[in-house]
Amino acid sequence: MEFKLNTNTLRPLSGAGRKLFVETYGCQMNVGDTEVVVALMQREGYVYTEDIGLADVILINTCSIRDNAEQRIWGRLAEMKRYRRAKPGLVVGIIGCMAERLKEKLVEGPYGVDVVAGPDAYRDLPRLVREAEAGGKGVNVLLSTEETYAEIAPVRLDRNGVSAYVAIMRGCNNFCSYCVVPYTRGRERSRDPQTIVAEARSLFGNGYREVTLLGQNVNSYKAGEVDFPELMRLVASISPLLRVRFATSHPKDMSDRLLEVMASMPNICRAIHLPAQSGATSMLERMNRKYTREWYLGRVAAIRRYLPDCAVTTDLIAGFSGETEKEHEATLSLMREVGYEFAYMFKYSERPGTFAHEHLPDDVPDEVKSRRLSEIIALQNELGHASNLRDVGREFEVLVEGRSKRDEKQLSGRTSQNKVVVFDRGRHDVGDYVRVRITGCTPATLFGEEII
Ligand code: 5AD
Ligand code: SF4
Repeated sequence: MEFKLNTNTLRPLSGAGRKLFVETYGCQMNVGDTEVVVALMQREGYVYTEDIGLADVILINTCSIRDNAEQRIWGRLAEMKRYRRAKPGLVVGIIGCMAERLKEKLVEGPYGVDVVAGPDAYRDLPRLVREAEAGGKGVNVLLSTEETYAEIAPVRLDRNGVSAYVAIMRGCNNFCSYCVVPYTRGRERSRDPQTIVAEARSLFGNGYREVTLLGQNVNSYKAGEVDFPELMRLVASISPLLRVRFATSHPKDMSDRLLEVMASMPNICRAIHLPAQSGATSMLERMNRKYTREWYLGRVAAIRRYLPDCAVTTDLIAGFSGETEKEHEATLSLMREVGYEFAYMFKYSERPGTFAHEHLPDDVPDEVKSRRLSEIIALQNELGHASNLRDVGREFEVLVEGRSKRDEKQLSGRTSQNKVVVFDRGRHDVGDYVRVRITGCTPATLFGEEII
Protein backbone atom coordinates (compact mmCIF):
# COMPACT_ATOMS: atom_id res chain seq x y z
CA MET A 1 0.00 0.00 0.00
CA GLU A 2 1.33 3.42 -0.96
CA PHE A 3 1.17 6.32 1.43
CA LYS A 4 2.35 9.90 0.83
CA LEU A 5 3.55 11.94 3.74
CA ASN A 6 1.86 15.30 4.32
CA THR A 7 5.14 17.12 4.08
CA ASN A 8 5.04 16.59 0.33
CA THR A 9 1.73 18.34 -0.09
CA LEU A 10 0.99 22.07 -0.11
CA ARG A 11 -2.50 21.83 1.34
CA PRO A 12 -2.79 23.09 4.94
CA LEU A 13 -3.30 20.39 7.54
CA SER A 14 -7.01 19.77 7.77
CA GLY A 15 -7.00 19.23 11.53
CA ALA A 16 -5.63 22.74 12.12
CA GLY A 17 -5.25 22.29 15.87
CA ARG A 18 -8.72 20.86 16.44
CA LYS A 19 -8.90 18.57 19.43
CA LEU A 20 -9.37 14.84 19.21
CA PHE A 21 -10.47 12.49 21.98
CA VAL A 22 -10.51 8.71 21.55
CA GLU A 23 -12.22 6.30 23.91
CA THR A 24 -11.15 2.65 23.65
CA TYR A 25 -13.09 -0.52 24.47
CA GLY A 26 -12.20 -4.18 24.05
CA CYS A 27 -8.95 -5.99 23.48
CA GLN A 28 -5.29 -4.96 23.45
CA MET A 29 -5.46 -4.86 19.67
CA ASN A 30 -7.92 -1.98 19.98
CA VAL A 31 -5.60 -0.17 22.38
CA GLY A 32 -2.88 -0.48 19.73
CA ASP A 33 -5.24 0.65 16.97
CA THR A 34 -6.21 3.76 18.92
CA GLU A 35 -2.52 4.68 19.07
CA VAL A 36 -2.29 4.29 15.30
CA VAL A 37 -5.43 6.40 14.83
CA VAL A 38 -4.01 9.20 17.01
CA ALA A 39 -0.77 9.10 14.98
CA LEU A 40 -2.71 9.34 11.71
CA MET A 41 -4.86 12.20 12.95
CA GLN A 42 -1.89 14.10 14.39
CA ARG A 43 -0.23 14.05 10.98
CA GLU A 44 -3.29 15.94 9.77
CA GLY A 45 -2.89 18.56 12.48
CA TYR A 46 -5.37 17.27 15.07
CA VAL A 47 -4.20 17.54 18.68
CA TYR A 48 -4.92 14.75 21.13
CA THR A 49 -6.71 15.72 24.33
CA GLU A 50 -7.41 13.64 27.42
CA ASP A 51 -10.34 15.88 28.29
CA ILE A 52 -13.46 14.81 26.43
CA GLY A 53 -15.07 18.14 27.32
CA LEU A 54 -12.52 19.97 25.14
CA ALA A 55 -12.84 17.66 22.13
CA ASP A 56 -13.96 18.77 18.66
CA VAL A 57 -13.86 15.16 17.48
CA ILE A 58 -14.77 12.16 19.65
CA LEU A 59 -13.97 8.71 18.31
CA ILE A 60 -15.13 5.58 20.09
CA ASN A 61 -13.05 2.51 19.30
CA THR A 62 -15.47 -0.36 19.76
CA CYS A 63 -15.68 -4.08 20.46
CA SER A 64 -18.24 -6.61 19.19
CA ILE A 65 -16.93 -9.80 20.76
CA ARG A 66 -19.89 -10.24 23.11
CA ASP A 67 -23.26 -8.57 23.25
CA ASN A 68 -22.54 -6.88 26.60
CA ALA A 69 -19.52 -5.14 25.04
CA GLU A 70 -21.82 -3.64 22.41
CA GLN A 71 -24.49 -2.72 24.97
CA ARG A 72 -21.95 -0.65 26.90
CA ILE A 73 -21.11 1.26 23.76
CA TRP A 74 -24.78 1.95 22.97
CA GLY A 75 -25.04 3.40 26.48
CA ARG A 76 -22.01 5.56 25.80
CA LEU A 77 -23.48 6.76 22.50
CA ALA A 78 -26.64 7.85 24.28
CA GLU A 79 -24.47 10.00 26.53
CA MET A 80 -22.89 11.69 23.49
CA LYS A 81 -26.10 13.74 23.14
CA ARG A 82 -24.96 15.73 26.17
CA TYR A 83 -21.61 16.58 24.56
CA ARG A 84 -23.30 17.49 21.28
CA ARG A 85 -25.61 19.93 23.07
CA ALA A 86 -22.62 21.52 24.80
CA LYS A 87 -20.64 21.84 21.58
CA PRO A 88 -22.48 22.39 18.30
CA GLY A 89 -20.47 21.00 15.38
CA LEU A 90 -18.95 18.24 17.50
CA VAL A 91 -18.05 15.19 15.38
CA VAL A 92 -18.81 11.78 16.91
CA GLY A 93 -17.38 8.69 15.22
CA ILE A 94 -17.56 4.98 15.78
CA ILE A 95 -14.47 3.04 14.76
CA GLY A 96 -13.40 -0.59 15.20
CA CYS A 97 -15.34 -3.83 15.25
CA MET A 98 -18.84 -2.45 15.88
CA ALA A 99 -18.37 -0.03 12.99
CA GLU A 100 -17.50 -2.97 10.77
CA ARG A 101 -20.41 -5.07 11.99
CA LEU A 102 -23.17 -2.46 11.87
CA LYS A 103 -21.89 -0.20 9.08
CA GLU A 104 -24.38 2.38 7.77
CA LYS A 105 -26.89 1.45 10.47
CA LEU A 106 -24.86 3.58 12.84
CA VAL A 107 -25.36 6.79 10.86
CA GLU A 108 -29.03 6.08 10.31
CA GLY A 109 -30.05 5.00 13.81
CA PRO A 110 -31.34 7.19 16.63
CA TYR A 111 -27.78 8.19 17.57
CA GLY A 112 -26.91 9.50 14.10
CA VAL A 113 -23.16 8.98 14.34
CA ASP A 114 -21.16 11.29 11.98
CA VAL A 115 -18.25 8.98 11.14
CA VAL A 116 -18.06 5.19 10.80
CA ALA A 117 -14.66 3.62 10.12
CA GLY A 118 -13.82 -0.09 10.16
CA PRO A 119 -10.46 -1.46 11.39
CA ASP A 120 -8.83 -1.29 7.96
CA ALA A 121 -10.05 2.23 7.09
CA TYR A 122 -8.09 4.34 9.56
CA ARG A 123 -5.88 6.00 6.95
CA ASP A 124 -9.10 7.41 5.55
CA LEU A 125 -10.21 8.89 8.91
CA PRO A 126 -8.99 12.45 8.29
CA ARG A 127 -11.07 12.56 5.10
CA LEU A 128 -14.09 10.99 6.81
CA VAL A 129 -13.89 13.50 9.67
CA ARG A 130 -13.54 16.34 7.16
CA GLU A 131 -16.71 15.18 5.45
CA ALA A 132 -18.51 15.18 8.78
CA GLU A 133 -17.16 18.64 9.63
CA ALA A 134 -18.64 19.85 6.35
CA GLY A 135 -22.04 18.60 7.51
CA GLY A 136 -22.05 15.21 5.78
CA LYS A 137 -21.45 11.68 6.99
CA GLY A 138 -18.14 9.85 6.62
CA VAL A 139 -18.40 6.10 6.20
CA ASN A 140 -15.67 3.61 5.21
CA VAL A 141 -15.93 -0.01 6.28
CA LEU A 142 -13.87 -1.62 3.52
CA LEU A 143 -11.76 -4.48 4.77
CA SER A 144 -8.34 -4.96 3.24
CA THR A 145 -6.18 -8.01 2.68
CA GLU A 146 -2.99 -5.94 3.00
CA GLU A 147 -3.36 -3.10 5.45
CA THR A 148 -1.08 -3.49 8.50
CA TYR A 149 -0.33 0.21 9.23
CA ALA A 150 3.24 -1.08 9.05
CA GLU A 151 5.13 2.20 8.90
CA ILE A 152 2.91 4.23 11.26
CA ALA A 153 4.64 5.03 14.55
CA PRO A 154 1.83 4.74 17.10
CA VAL A 155 1.46 7.59 19.60
CA ARG A 156 1.88 5.91 23.00
CA LEU A 157 -1.01 6.85 25.23
CA ASP A 158 -0.38 4.38 28.06
CA ARG A 159 2.08 6.62 29.89
CA ASN A 160 3.72 4.07 32.16
CA GLY A 161 6.61 4.41 29.74
CA VAL A 162 7.77 0.86 30.48
CA SER A 163 5.59 -1.59 28.59
CA ALA A 164 4.02 -1.23 25.16
CA TYR A 165 2.02 -3.30 22.69
CA VAL A 166 3.27 -3.80 19.16
CA ALA A 167 0.81 -5.17 16.61
CA ILE A 168 2.51 -7.73 14.37
CA MET A 169 -0.50 -8.88 12.39
CA ARG A 170 -4.18 -8.16 11.83
CA GLY A 171 -7.31 -10.18 11.20
CA CYS A 172 -8.01 -13.86 11.73
CA ASN A 173 -8.50 -16.84 9.42
CA ASN A 174 -9.59 -19.38 12.00
CA PHE A 175 -13.35 -18.94 12.01
CA CYS A 176 -14.03 -20.44 15.40
CA SER A 177 -17.75 -20.99 15.07
CA TYR A 178 -18.76 -18.60 17.89
CA CYS A 179 -16.43 -15.74 16.98
CA VAL A 180 -17.20 -12.51 15.14
CA VAL A 181 -13.56 -11.40 14.76
CA PRO A 182 -12.90 -12.85 11.27
CA TYR A 183 -15.93 -10.85 10.07
CA THR A 184 -15.07 -7.57 11.78
CA ARG A 185 -11.29 -7.61 11.37
CA GLY A 186 -11.05 -9.49 8.10
CA ARG A 187 -8.40 -11.86 6.78
CA GLU A 188 -5.15 -12.52 8.50
CA ARG A 189 -2.08 -10.61 7.31
CA SER A 190 1.39 -10.18 8.80
CA ARG A 191 3.23 -6.92 9.22
CA ASP A 192 6.69 -6.43 7.71
CA PRO A 193 9.22 -7.70 10.28
CA GLN A 194 11.65 -4.83 9.75
CA THR A 195 9.05 -2.28 10.80
CA ILE A 196 8.25 -4.39 13.89
CA VAL A 197 11.89 -4.63 14.94
CA ALA A 198 12.41 -0.91 14.24
CA GLU A 199 9.40 -0.02 16.39
CA ALA A 200 10.55 -2.24 19.26
CA ARG A 201 14.08 -0.84 19.03
CA SER A 202 12.82 2.72 19.14
CA LEU A 203 10.64 1.89 22.17
CA PHE A 204 13.70 0.47 23.91
CA GLY A 205 15.66 3.60 23.02
CA ASN A 206 12.89 5.67 24.60
CA GLY A 207 13.20 3.82 27.89
CA TYR A 208 10.61 1.08 27.38
CA ARG A 209 11.62 -2.26 28.86
CA GLU A 210 8.84 -4.56 27.69
CA VAL A 211 7.03 -5.11 24.40
CA THR A 212 4.07 -7.41 23.85
CA LEU A 213 3.73 -8.62 20.26
CA LEU A 214 0.06 -8.72 19.39
CA GLY A 215 -2.11 -10.64 16.97
CA GLN A 216 -5.23 -12.82 17.04
CA ASN A 217 -3.05 -15.85 16.36
CA VAL A 218 0.61 -14.85 16.55
CA ASN A 219 1.80 -18.40 15.88
CA SER A 220 0.71 -18.16 12.27
CA TYR A 221 2.76 -14.99 11.67
CA LYS A 222 4.57 -15.28 8.34
CA ALA A 223 6.24 -12.54 6.35
CA GLY A 224 8.52 -13.85 3.60
CA GLU A 225 11.12 -16.02 5.33
CA VAL A 226 10.30 -14.78 8.81
CA ASP A 227 7.94 -16.87 10.92
CA PHE A 228 6.91 -16.25 14.51
CA PRO A 229 9.80 -18.00 16.29
CA GLU A 230 12.25 -16.10 14.10
CA LEU A 231 10.44 -12.80 14.74
CA MET A 232 10.62 -13.43 18.48
CA ARG A 233 14.34 -14.10 18.16
CA LEU A 234 14.85 -10.86 16.22
CA VAL A 235 12.90 -8.73 18.71
CA ALA A 236 14.43 -10.39 21.78
CA SER A 237 17.91 -9.82 20.32
CA ILE A 238 17.47 -6.03 20.51
CA SER A 239 18.69 -6.11 24.13
CA PRO A 240 18.74 -8.58 27.01
CA LEU A 241 17.12 -5.74 28.98
CA LEU A 242 14.06 -5.75 26.76
CA ARG A 243 11.40 -8.18 27.88
CA VAL A 244 9.31 -9.67 25.11
CA ARG A 245 5.80 -11.10 25.50
CA PHE A 246 3.20 -12.17 22.96
CA ALA A 247 -0.55 -12.73 22.70
CA THR A 248 -2.51 -14.63 21.59
CA SER A 249 -1.49 -18.18 20.67
CA HIS A 250 -3.82 -20.66 19.03
CA PRO A 251 -3.06 -24.12 20.47
CA LYS A 252 -3.21 -25.73 17.02
CA ASP A 253 -0.21 -23.65 15.87
CA MET A 254 1.95 -23.65 19.04
CA SER A 255 5.20 -25.12 17.74
CA ASP A 256 8.14 -26.70 19.56
CA ARG A 257 10.39 -24.34 17.65
CA LEU A 258 8.83 -21.38 19.40
CA LEU A 259 9.38 -23.09 22.75
CA GLU A 260 13.01 -23.74 21.81
CA VAL A 261 13.57 -20.08 20.96
CA MET A 262 11.88 -19.05 24.21
CA ALA A 263 14.04 -21.43 26.23
CA SER A 264 17.19 -20.04 24.60
CA MET A 265 16.42 -16.39 25.44
CA PRO A 266 15.77 -15.51 29.08
CA ASN A 267 14.30 -12.10 28.19
CA ILE A 268 11.36 -13.79 26.42
CA CYS A 269 8.84 -13.93 29.24
CA ARG A 270 7.84 -17.19 30.83
CA ALA A 271 4.15 -16.74 30.18
CA ILE A 272 1.99 -18.26 27.48
CA HIS A 273 -1.64 -17.37 26.92
CA LEU A 274 -3.14 -20.48 25.37
CA PRO A 275 -6.92 -20.17 25.05
CA ALA A 276 -8.52 -23.59 25.52
CA GLN A 277 -12.16 -22.38 25.30
CA SER A 278 -13.37 -25.83 26.46
CA GLY A 279 -11.98 -29.04 27.89
CA ALA A 280 -14.23 -31.39 25.89
CA THR A 281 -13.13 -32.63 22.48
CA SER A 282 -16.76 -32.89 21.29
CA MET A 283 -17.26 -29.23 22.18
CA LEU A 284 -13.96 -28.15 20.60
CA GLU A 285 -15.20 -29.74 17.41
CA ARG A 286 -18.46 -27.73 17.49
CA MET A 287 -16.36 -24.65 18.18
CA ASN A 288 -14.21 -25.45 15.11
CA ARG A 289 -11.04 -25.15 17.19
CA LYS A 290 -9.20 -27.84 15.16
CA TYR A 291 -7.59 -29.58 18.17
CA THR A 292 -8.64 -32.12 20.76
CA ARG A 293 -8.33 -32.09 24.55
CA GLU A 294 -5.39 -34.50 24.21
CA TRP A 295 -3.62 -32.28 21.68
CA TYR A 296 -4.07 -29.30 23.97
CA LEU A 297 -2.67 -31.19 26.96
CA GLY A 298 0.22 -32.34 24.77
CA ARG A 299 1.06 -28.69 24.02
CA VAL A 300 0.94 -27.84 27.72
CA ALA A 301 3.26 -30.79 28.43
CA ALA A 302 5.67 -29.47 25.79
CA ILE A 303 5.61 -26.02 27.43
CA ARG A 304 6.45 -27.61 30.79
CA ARG A 305 9.26 -29.61 29.18
CA TYR A 306 10.97 -26.63 27.55
CA LEU A 307 10.05 -23.99 30.13
CA PRO A 308 9.44 -25.54 33.54
CA ASP A 309 8.80 -22.14 35.16
CA CYS A 310 6.34 -20.92 32.51
CA ALA A 311 2.91 -19.58 33.51
CA VAL A 312 0.04 -20.84 31.38
CA THR A 313 -3.13 -18.76 31.13
CA THR A 314 -6.28 -19.26 29.10
CA ASP A 315 -9.70 -18.16 27.85
CA LEU A 316 -12.79 -20.28 28.58
CA ILE A 317 -16.37 -20.08 27.35
CA ALA A 318 -19.27 -21.44 29.42
CA GLY A 319 -22.51 -22.59 27.83
CA PHE A 320 -21.76 -22.72 24.12
CA SER A 321 -24.28 -24.48 21.87
CA GLY A 322 -25.34 -27.91 23.09
CA GLU A 323 -22.96 -27.92 26.08
CA THR A 324 -23.78 -30.90 28.28
CA GLU A 325 -23.02 -31.21 31.97
CA LYS A 326 -20.34 -33.73 31.05
CA GLU A 327 -18.67 -31.29 28.67
CA HIS A 328 -18.76 -28.61 31.33
CA GLU A 329 -17.16 -31.05 33.80
CA ALA A 330 -14.45 -31.69 31.21
CA THR A 331 -13.64 -27.97 31.20
CA LEU A 332 -13.31 -28.01 35.00
CA SER A 333 -11.08 -31.08 34.90
CA LEU A 334 -8.89 -29.53 32.18
CA MET A 335 -8.46 -26.48 34.39
CA ARG A 336 -7.36 -28.67 37.30
CA GLU A 337 -5.04 -30.69 35.12
CA VAL A 338 -3.28 -27.63 33.69
CA GLY A 339 -3.45 -25.56 36.89
CA TYR A 340 -3.85 -22.23 35.10
CA GLU A 341 -2.22 -19.19 36.65
CA PHE A 342 -4.98 -16.98 35.31
CA ALA A 343 -8.00 -17.16 32.98
CA TYR A 344 -10.42 -14.91 31.16
CA MET A 345 -13.81 -16.57 31.55
CA PHE A 346 -16.93 -15.79 29.56
CA LYS A 347 -20.54 -16.76 29.16
CA TYR A 348 -21.28 -17.64 25.54
CA SER A 349 -22.88 -14.75 23.69
CA GLU A 350 -24.35 -15.46 20.27
CA ARG A 351 -23.00 -13.13 17.58
CA PRO A 352 -24.96 -12.39 14.42
CA GLY A 353 -23.29 -13.59 11.23
CA THR A 354 -21.14 -16.30 12.81
CA PHE A 355 -21.38 -19.98 11.86
CA ALA A 356 -22.90 -20.74 15.27
CA HIS A 357 -25.56 -18.08 14.79
CA GLU A 358 -26.59 -19.73 11.51
CA HIS A 359 -26.19 -23.41 12.44
CA LEU A 360 -25.73 -24.08 16.17
CA PRO A 361 -28.59 -23.04 18.44
CA ASP A 362 -27.88 -20.93 21.54
CA ASP A 363 -29.73 -23.53 23.58
CA VAL A 364 -28.11 -23.55 27.02
CA PRO A 365 -30.49 -21.66 29.35
CA ASP A 366 -29.03 -18.47 30.75
CA GLU A 367 -29.23 -19.65 34.36
CA VAL A 368 -27.27 -22.78 33.43
CA LYS A 369 -24.63 -20.69 31.65
CA SER A 370 -24.36 -18.43 34.70
CA ARG A 371 -24.05 -21.35 37.11
CA ARG A 372 -21.37 -23.01 34.98
CA LEU A 373 -19.48 -19.76 34.63
CA SER A 374 -19.52 -19.25 38.42
CA GLU A 375 -18.16 -22.76 38.90
CA ILE A 376 -15.38 -22.02 36.43
CA ILE A 377 -14.59 -18.70 38.13
CA ALA A 378 -14.60 -20.26 41.62
CA LEU A 379 -12.23 -22.99 40.50
CA GLN A 380 -9.92 -20.49 38.79
CA ASN A 381 -9.78 -18.39 41.97
CA GLU A 382 -8.62 -21.49 43.81
CA LEU A 383 -6.04 -22.36 41.16
CA GLY A 384 -4.72 -18.80 40.99
CA HIS A 385 -4.40 -18.61 44.74
CA ALA A 386 -2.66 -21.99 44.91
CA SER A 387 -0.22 -20.84 42.24
CA ASN A 388 0.52 -17.64 44.21
CA LEU A 389 1.04 -19.65 47.39
CA ARG A 390 3.58 -21.82 45.57
CA ASP A 391 5.55 -18.65 44.74
CA VAL A 392 5.97 -17.65 48.39
CA GLY A 393 9.65 -18.05 49.31
CA ARG A 394 10.76 -18.00 45.66
CA GLU A 395 12.87 -15.33 43.95
CA PHE A 396 11.84 -13.39 40.85
CA GLU A 397 13.17 -10.59 38.72
CA VAL A 398 10.51 -7.88 38.76
CA LEU A 399 10.20 -5.11 36.17
CA VAL A 400 8.83 -2.06 37.97
CA GLU A 401 5.80 -0.55 36.23
CA GLY A 402 4.60 2.02 38.72
CA ARG A 403 4.03 3.13 42.25
CA SER A 404 1.64 1.00 44.25
CA LYS A 405 -1.91 2.33 44.22
CA ARG A 406 -2.29 1.94 47.95
CA ASP A 407 1.05 3.12 49.25
CA GLU A 408 3.41 5.68 47.70
CA LYS A 409 6.40 4.02 49.37
CA GLN A 410 5.79 0.81 47.49
CA LEU A 411 6.38 -0.16 43.90
CA SER A 412 4.40 -2.49 41.72
CA GLY A 413 5.81 -4.56 38.91
CA ARG A 414 5.58 -7.90 37.15
CA THR A 415 7.49 -11.12 37.12
CA SER A 416 8.41 -12.80 33.87
CA GLN A 417 5.35 -15.00 34.54
CA ASN A 418 3.24 -11.81 34.39
CA LYS A 419 2.24 -11.81 38.04
CA VAL A 420 1.95 -8.52 39.90
CA VAL A 421 4.36 -8.04 42.83
CA VAL A 422 4.24 -5.19 45.35
CA PHE A 423 7.34 -4.37 47.42
CA ASP A 424 9.07 -1.54 49.29
CA ARG A 425 10.54 1.06 47.01
CA GLY A 426 14.05 1.36 48.42
CA ARG A 427 16.15 3.23 45.86
CA HIS A 428 14.20 1.96 42.87
CA ASP A 429 11.81 3.47 40.41
CA VAL A 430 9.71 2.76 37.35
CA GLY A 431 11.62 0.88 34.63
CA ASP A 432 14.10 -0.81 37.01
CA TYR A 433 14.66 -4.55 37.26
CA VAL A 434 14.68 -5.66 40.89
CA ARG A 435 15.34 -9.11 42.36
CA VAL A 436 12.59 -9.82 44.82
CA ARG A 437 11.81 -12.65 47.23
CA ILE A 438 8.11 -13.36 47.66
CA THR A 439 7.04 -13.10 51.27
CA GLY A 440 3.26 -13.35 51.01
CA CYS A 441 0.26 -13.14 48.72
CA THR A 442 -3.44 -12.60 48.24
CA PRO A 443 -5.32 -14.52 45.52
CA ALA A 444 -4.51 -11.66 43.10
CA THR A 445 -1.18 -10.15 44.21
CA LEU A 446 2.25 -11.21 45.40
CA PHE A 447 4.11 -9.27 48.09
CA GLY A 448 7.88 -9.36 48.33
CA GLU A 449 11.12 -7.78 49.46
CA GLU A 450 14.18 -6.79 47.54
CA ILE A 451 17.08 -9.22 47.74
CA ILE A 452 20.13 -7.13 48.53
N1 5AD B 1 -19.08 -15.45 23.37
C1 5AD B 1 -18.29 -15.53 24.48
N2 5AD B 1 -16.96 -15.42 24.42
C2 5AD B 1 -16.38 -15.25 23.22
N3 5AD B 1 -15.09 -15.12 22.87
C3 5AD B 1 -15.02 -14.96 21.53
N4 5AD B 1 -16.26 -14.98 21.01
C4 5AD B 1 -17.12 -15.17 22.04
C5 5AD B 1 -18.53 -15.28 22.14
N5 5AD B 1 -19.31 -15.21 21.06
C6 5AD B 1 -13.97 -15.18 23.82
C7 5AD B 1 -13.01 -16.33 23.50
C8 5AD B 1 -11.82 -15.60 22.94
C9 5AD B 1 -11.86 -14.29 23.72
C10 5AD B 1 -11.08 -13.18 23.12
O1 5AD B 1 -13.23 -13.99 23.76
O2 5AD B 1 -12.69 -16.97 24.71
O3 5AD B 1 -10.61 -16.29 23.17
FE1 SF4 C 1 -11.94 -15.54 17.21
FE2 SF4 C 1 -10.93 -18.03 17.02
FE3 SF4 C 1 -9.85 -16.00 15.58
FE4 SF4 C 1 -9.54 -16.07 18.26
S1 SF4 C 1 -8.74 -17.58 16.78
S2 SF4 C 1 -10.13 -14.26 16.99
S3 SF4 C 1 -11.49 -16.94 18.95
S4 SF4 C 1 -11.92 -16.83 15.33
